[in-house]
Amino acid sequence: MEITNVSEYQEIAKQKLPKMAYDYYASGAEDQWTLHENRFAFTKILFRPRILIDVSKIDMTTTVLGFKISMPIMIAPTAFQKMAHPEGEYATARAASAAGTIMTLSSWATSSVEEVASTGPGIRFFQLYVYKDRNVVAQLVRRAERAGFKAIALTVDTPKLGRREADIKNRFTLPPFLTLKNFEGLDLGKMDQADDSGLASYVAGQIDRSLSWKDVKWLQTITTLPILVKGVLTAEDTRIAVEAGAAGIIVSNHGARQLDYVPATIMALEEVNQWFQT
Ligand code: LAC
Repeated sequence: MEITNVSEYQEIAKQKLPKMAYDYYASGAEDQWTLHENRFAFTKILFRPRILIDVSKIDMTTTVLGFKISMPIMIAPTAFQKMAHPEGEYATARAASAAGTIMTLSSWATSSVEEVASTGPGIRFFQLYVYKDRNVVAQLVRRAERAGFKAIALTVDTPKLGRREADIKNRFTLPPFLTLKNFEGLDLGKMDQADDSGLASYVAGQIDRSLSWKDVKWLQTITTLPILVKGVLTAEDTRIAVEAGAAGIIVSNHGARQLDYVPATIMALEEVNQWFQT
């Protein structure tokens, strides 16, 4: 069947994927109010088309951190892509490169930074969580640098994993044939796979809940890569991020997977943008 609308991917995924995998990708946190709102909010923002303008040549190119991309659309980090297809993150990396845009690789990818780099040329950013063990963070950053990644997207909205009810019901865990490839070779013992009690306990065990602005400063001392603070939803935090030396922010509610009853990302973007204009 020919896909003519991106919304069709979801229905096809539902048919093809094991329920545990589909639910993991598709779910938001708790009542999924924000998940609904993330989409619904776009329906309230309408085009206001102007007419009789020569559109025979359209240039959508823009720059992000000085890197030229073909259009103002990039690929956000999402974990465990090989759960959906054996090519996983490799396919995403090749597609981003072919489309002339930037991919951000999840630190919880099922392909390593080196493997993704080996798929060919492309501008890539690396998403990072701050682990309790700062040596792990430092080693990950160094590997991303060596593999030619161009920026660090520091996720700051996951001191605790969002309560995704389908994952709880399914007792979600990474299929045994997959591993968190970026942790192979790191001194992480058997943390290369979420244990049977699921992702939430993995996060509780490893991710540092004490994460604060001082860690954004610390990160700047261990890398010269630009740091993007990912998970900003307010004008106030935008100001603090800029003051803390962030090269940029990523306005995001984590695909509605973390705190439910926060505004749709597109609405938060409006608030942040208004602050920039004042
Ligand atoms: C999630 C984490 C892995 O949303 O980013 O599932």
